[in-house]
Amino acid sequence: MSDPAAAKPGGDAPAPAELNVLHWWTSASERAAADHVAARMAEQGLRWVDGAVAGGGGSAAIKVLNERTLRRMAPKVAQLNGQSMSEWADMGLLLELDGVAQRRNWARTMFPQVMSQLTVREHVVAAPLGIHRINNLYLNKAVFAQHRIELPSDWTGVLRAAKALRAAGVTPVAFSDEPWQVATVFEALLLGEAGPSLYRRMMVQRELQAFDDPALERSLRRLRDWRGLALPAAAQGAASGPQPVMLGERPWTELVADFAAGRSAMLIMGDWARGELGSLGLEGGRDFDCRAVPGTAQAHLYSIDTLAMLAGSGVQAEQEKMAELLGSATLQLGYNRIKGSVPVRRDVPVDELDPCAQQSFALFANPATPRVPSLVHRMAFGEVGKNAIIETVHRFALDPAQTPAAAQRKLQGLLRALTPPPPSTPSPPSPPAAISPKAPR
Ligand code: GAL
Repeated sequence: MSDPAAAKPGGDAPAPAELNVLHWWTSASERAAADHVAARMAEQGLRWVDGAVAGGGGSAAIKVLNERTLRRMAPKVAQLNGQSMSEWADMGLLLELDGVAQRRNWARTMFPQVMSQLTVREHVVAAPLGIHRINNLYLNKAVFAQHRIELPSDWTGVLRAAKALRAAGVTPVAFSDEPWQVATVFEALLLGEAGPSLYRRMMVQRELQAFDDPALERSLRRLRDWRGLALPAAAQGAASGPQPVMLGERPWTELVADFAAGRSAMLIMGDWARGELGSLGLEGGRDFDCRAVPGTAQAHLYSIDTLAMLAGSGVQAEQEKMAELLGSATLQLGYNRIKGSVPVRRDVPVDELDPCAQQSFALFANPATPRVPSLVHRMAFGEVGKNAIIETVHRFALDPAQTPAAAQRKLQGLLRALTPPPPSTPSPPSPPAAISPKAPR
């Protein structure tokens, strides 16, 4: 299995070397993007053995990865993004890919931001696949046109449009109560209210005082208002009452399907939604508009998908071959076109991608763009920290009895608990596991 040149029993062609890949790409577009990689691997004598674990945002997949690793059944390759990847590298669990990066000149071809994300203690520890933008507001053009409503680009316009949509019998917004989805909307709203520099002070520098800023309270209010626009018309009044009104923890793919069918008209979601809309036959620019969440037009709230190679697997040569392939220009274009993300390399021509992808790519490529790391998608916090924050935001969104000010204090308290004491104070016996020593850039 580990020898790519090994002969198939009874045949001349070499048996493809198998690589078991654990990931969470299970929607139609995610599946198609993963299949695209598998097909390109097959051309090179590598077999992608699928270890998908369903569940958007990947919490379920990461739990399975932990379990499998504990039981010595680790996959050969795993989707490990951002700070999670750093945590695994710190424990010595990842294969270093410095040779691949050098041979393929990644330092020159990849975006510097991508390289810094892949590098832990000066070693490259994963292969990058694509860059997602999170702060997108999707608008269903047919619905807006049918009811002669202007496409909004600021909050006043959004609220005006929502009112008109309600009057026309359309639910304005698609929203799910699934915790990671609630928090994904929240981080985009926070960026809009706080702006990139305050967002960074909160999520990257983790300054406690930054959590006092009224922008945080405003974004919590916005979150609740936005969710209110997804409630059935009859439930709207009840939502401000003492009893929570639930929308249900619907998978993100259902929201996309609702939006595509015109059952809702607006959606805030990472651009994996654009990939999914593509798989339903909708085209960016033609059928839907992708605008930035109001107040975030100049910024890129990013999440970078990466596949890490597990160390000590006995198939190092195959893992390296796969990593080389993932970084190649052709694969980058083919994969990202399906997935909704954009290439991690600055040297690939993106003029054939849809206008939304081109815009995301141009923004990310521009050194003047404020690029801010996603909290929910592990760019700013590791698994434990991001889960704790998601939980707090989720509880607030669903519980009308909790005030934004109380949620703000909870978030601040949480950050205090998660952040290690400054170096001058003596360290506690066991430092909190949530914070990775590597700060995102
Ligand atoms: C993100 C991941 C994306 C997409 C999304 C929905 O965390 O980066 O590739 O799969 O979750 O599951």
